[in-house]
Amino acid sequence: MIQKKFHKELIRWYLKNKRELPWRETTDPYPIWLSEIILQQTRVQQGMPYYFAFLTQFPSVFDLANASEKDVLSLWQGLGYYSRARNLHKTAQQIVTEFNGVFPDSYVGLLTLKGVGPYTAAAIASFAYKEKVSVVDGNVYRVLTRVFGIYEDITLNTTKKQIAELAQSLIPTKDPDIYNQAIMEFGAMHCTPADPNCENCPFSGICVAYSAGDQKILPLKAKAKAKQNRFFNYFIIRNGDVVLMKERGANDIWQGLYEFWLHETERIVSLDELLLDQIRLTEKHLRAEYGPYKHILSHQILHASFYAFDVPKIIFNAIKKQYSMQEINISEITQTPKPVLITKCLRAHKF
Ligand code: ADE
Repeated sequence: MIQKKFHKELIRWYLKNKRELPWRETTDPYPIWLSEIILQQTRVQQGMPYYFAFLTQFPSVFDLANASEKDVLSLWQGLGYYSRARNLHKTAQQIVTEFNGVFPDSYVGLLTLKGVGPYTAAAIASFAYKEKVSVVDGNVYRVLTRVFGIYEDITLNTTKKQIAELAQSLIPTKDPDIYNQAIMEFGAMHCTPADPNCENCPFSGICVAYSAGDQKILPLKAKAKAKQNRFFNYFIIRNGDVVLMKERGANDIWQGLYEFWLHETERIVSLDELLLDQIRLTEKHLRAEYGPYKHILSHQILHASFYAFDVPKIIFNAIKKQYSMQEINISEITQTPKPVLITKCLRAHKF
């Protein structure tokens, strides 16, 4: 009874309140997939320019597959979580080589793609093919735990399974695509984490959290582990118009991105201490210092200080060789894929 009413009320709310978003105007799986990957852990307003930039530079999955990883990462700059961009690129190549550039046409088929998990497969299958398979993301967790009063820790697999089953029991056969858009939109715009609009809610009559006054505590989530602090000291080694940068290696969150010469320490240390280990650099080469900047990632907090050194060619070449670094012209730095942390510093100082 409640379940039937739920999708009707939800879709009614959606049709009245939805935002016009470009990826909702198509049933082509390529732009839908692109939008879903971009919007993972990214707000709509931040993701929108990237969506358009990717479609402009790579109008088809073939264009994306044929691009270099460097070009893909470069366009992704600023979105963070670069493994998403690398997977995006690899998945495009898989679609071209294994599926002749045609997306699998079902939820189960989509799940065989490398970077595509249950959420993304459900989003594409419902939006592109109208398959009746429910999306479950953070918005859906929030709406369902509140309305249906699920007081279990949502980080537990048993709770995830329970919510996935409930979500699947709620999705209608007619318009499953609209229903999925609607529940995510309702979570993003109305049933928000800190300030849900319960006074004007179509579910205020049935919502367990509202009747118990528990909106703000649901969904329940076990406390995340404390984030690890890391201390990065970057030496920007410059001679004339060129600086030294190095590509981060495999199995790293920043794989494929370029950074300056990194000295990681256990705690904040002074430049004097950092220079104790150096045979070539002295304080007389120092031109400027920036930071420390704090940069918060999902599992760690980075504290980064930057020291810009102008050095003679002989020192520049010696460091380049010893640490296998690359020369990058100052004019190319903008195009070089870098961690956001470095982009922020360069922007702040008009490098
Ligand atoms: N976030 C993730 N997917 C979305 C979508 N299809 N519309 C709006 N926000 C989203």
